[in-house]
Amino acid sequence: MKIDILLGLQWGDEGKGKVVDLITPNYDIIARFQGGPNAGHSLEFNNIKHVLHIIPSGIFHPEKINVIGNGVVIDPQSFKDEIDQLITMGVDPVKNLHISSKAHLILPSHRLLDAAQEASKGKAKIGSTLKGIGPTYTDKTGRNGLRVGDIISPNFNEKYQKLKEQHLLLLKQYDFDYEKQLSESEPNWLDSLNTLKKFNIIESEYDVNNYLKTGKNILAEGAQGTLLDIDFGSYPFVTSSNTITSGACSGLGIAPSAIGNVIGIVKAYCTRVGSGPFPTELFDEDGETLRKNGFEFGSTTGRPRRCGWLDLVALNYAIMLNGVTEIVLTKADVLSGFDEIKVCTAYQINGKIVDRVPFDNEVEIKPVYQSFKGWNADITQVRNYLELPVELREYIDFIEKETRVKVSIVSVGPDRTASIKK
Ligand code: GDP
Ligand code: IMO
Ligand code: MG
Repeated sequence: MKIDILLGLQWGDEGKGKVVDLITPNYDIIARFQGGPNAGHSLEFNNIKHVLHIIPSGIFHPEKINVIGNGVVIDPQSFKDEIDQLITMGVDPVKNLHISSKAHLILPSHRLLDAAQEASKGKAKIGSTLKGIGPTYTDKTGRNGLRVGDIISPNFNEKYQKLKEQHLLLLKQYDFDYEKQLSESEPNWLDSLNTLKKFNIIESEYDVNNYLKTGKNILAEGAQGTLLDIDFGSYPFVTSSNTITSGACSGLGIAPSAIGNVIGIVKAYCTRVGSGPFPTELFDEDGETLRKNGFEFGSTTGRPRRCGWLDLVALNYAIMLNGVTEIVLTKADVLSGFDEIKVCTAYQINGKIVDRVPFDNEVEIKPVYQSFKGWNADITQVRNYLELPVELREYIDFIEKETRVKVSIVSVGPDRTASIKK
C-alpha cells in the first residue's frame, strides 16, 4: 500500500483539520509528521468545533489509529491539556493514539527562549506562536535535545536539568524576566510527563511500515503550510520544520516510493498570520470582508490573520515542491457576496513580469491580477457541484487550468458535512 499525504499549500490554516476529519473514513491510520503545538487544526461536527494542536485530526473516529511521528515536537503540558479536553468530550484517546519515542520534547525553557529571542528581534520579529518550536528544533539538529523515549530512562531528571542549565545560560544574555515564569510552569510540566507515560510509546517507523506491508491505508497530516517551510518558505519568516511532502518521509520513516496521493489543501483566497512577505495582501475593505466573513483569527493564538487574493505564483511553487495530485479547495463560501474576485497570475518585479517566488524578501512585488465576476448566493447548504454558481465553477476551472491539478472537493463551510465532491 501507499501512504497519502495531506498538506497546506499556502501559509497554514487552509482547513487541513476539517478535511482530514472528513476523509478519515477512507483510512486506517492518521499520522502527524512535523510541527507541534504551533498548529491549530479545527474540525466541526454536530455543531461542536474542536481545535487540535498535536493530536492528529482522525482522533474523533474511535476505530482509527492515530500516530504522532518522530518529526513532531511535543510539549507534554499542552499534550496533557489537549488530552484532558478530549476526555471531557467523551473521547478516550489512550488506546488509539501512539507516539514515537523519537519525537522531541519541548521544555518550559524552550518556550522561554522562543519568547526571549522574539522579543530581542524588535521589528524583525517572525511572529512566532511562542510555543518553543524554533528552540526545540534547534536542539534537535544541534544534537542536544530530549526525546519522548527518554522520559522512562532512570536518569531522565539528570538529562533534563543539564539541558535546562544550558538554556538558562542562554536566557541570561537576554533582557528577559524568565525566572518567575520558569518556576511557575516547571512543576506542572514535570507532572504532565505522567500523562505522556500512559500512552503507547513506540518506534513508529516500524509500525508505519508494517501497516503499509499489511495493506493498511495511511494518511499523513501536515501542519503549517508549504510557504512556511524551513527551506522553501520566505526565510526567516518560516517555521522550523519541513512542511512539504518530503517532510513526511523523514518525519515518519517512510521511503519516497511509498508515497501515493498528495492532497493539497488550498483556501479560495490567502491568509497569513505572523510576519513576512504576502504579495496579494489587501489593506482595504475587501481584506476586512475576507477576515470578517472567513472568521480569520488564529486557532492557536487568536491573532487576526492577514488576508488577500489567491496567489497562483506561490500556489504553483507549492504544487511543484510537493508533487500535488489533487486539490481540496476550502472556504469557497467566504467569497460569496464579492462583485469582483481577483487572482494573482504573475508578479511584476522591477518592471519585469515573473512567475517565480523571488529569493529576496524585501523586493517590492506588484501582483498582476486577473479579475473574475463574483456571485451573490449563500452556498453553504449546496452539496451538489453543479448547483454551485456558475461564476464559482469558472473560478475553479481557472485554478485547475493554471495549476494543472484537479480540484477533488470543494468545502463550503466549517462543518464536516459542508463538503462537495467534484
Ligand atoms: P488548519 O490549520 O489548516 O487546520 O486550519 P484552521 O483550523 O486553523 O483554520 C481554518 C478555519 O476555517 C477554521 O476555523 C475552520 O473551522 C474553518 N473552515 C474550514 N473549512 C471551511 C469552509 O469551507 N468554509 C468556512 N467558512 N470555514 C471553514
Ligand atoms: P496550522 O497547522 C499558520 C506561523 C507563525 C509564524 C511562523 C513561525 O494551524 O496551519 P512558529 O511558532 O512555528 O515558530 O511560528 O509560522 N505558523 C503558522 N501559521 N498556521 C499554522 O499552523 C502555523 N504554525 C506556525 O504565525 O509566522
Ligand atoms: Mg491552523
